[in-house]
Amino acid sequence: MAFNIAIDGPAGAGKSTIAKKVAKELSYIYVDTGAMFRAMALYCIRNGVDREKEQEVSKACEEITVSISYENGEQQVLLNGENVNGFIRTEEVGNTASTISVYGKVRTKLLELQRKLAETQDVIMDGRDIGTCVLPNAQVKIYLTASVETRGKRRFLELQEKGQACSLEEICADIKDRDYRDMHREIAPLKQAEDAILVDSSNMTIDEVVAEILKLVKEKQQ
Ligand code: DC
Repeated sequence: MAFNIAIDGPAGAGKSTIAKKVAKELSYIYVDTGAMFRAMALYCIRNGVDREKEQEVSKACEEITVSISYENGEQQVLLNGENVNGFIRTEEVGNTASTISVYGKVRTKLLELQRKLAETQDVIMDGRDIGTCVLPNAQVKIYLTASVETRGKRRFLELQEKGQACSLEEICADIKDRDYRDMHREIAPLKQAEDAILVDSSNMTIDEVVAEILKLVKEKQQ
């Protein structure tokens, strides 16, 4: 049976950085589900679909095919066959993804793809509802979080490094909005699964978090 690791948590907690490292250590496949929601958001932005209107977004779902492939071990997201990895890492796409991910049609569209990927191969999958909804039988579940201030500062430094102008205050406000939306939606809201282990990375280095997760995996596999 495939071994599944689920990592959920709010925006900016470091899920993808950590999941990628764990995947490399274990030679597992890393599945970034946020990127799939981002691809759908990109479609809406490009095609003038109003993200606030569920009906419009649901209709657009019928025109969208999301799939993934791997290049040198890196996940690539394909939107109707086009590799959109280079377009989905902006604040606008992230916020739109958060807005449209509350709609049932958007979630069901991606659920099957996510479950299929984990069925036959060892994966570490990150998102908001992996431990609670997508992979309820995952052998290891982590809820990774950090304070809003820590997450905001990390994001701020990341954007500065990329040469994108930004304000720390705005980023923290965005993070709070996104947390609220992701945690309070009706379908599959972000919350810690009952059997998930809470890891607060506010005062931990990336390597410390990775080591903690590897330890939990080893314990389960013994
Ligand atoms: O992890 P991320 O920032 O790339 O995710 C973008 C948005 O997509 C997030 O704010 C909410 C949504 N999302 C979701 O609803 N369920 C997931 N499993 C992953 C992401």
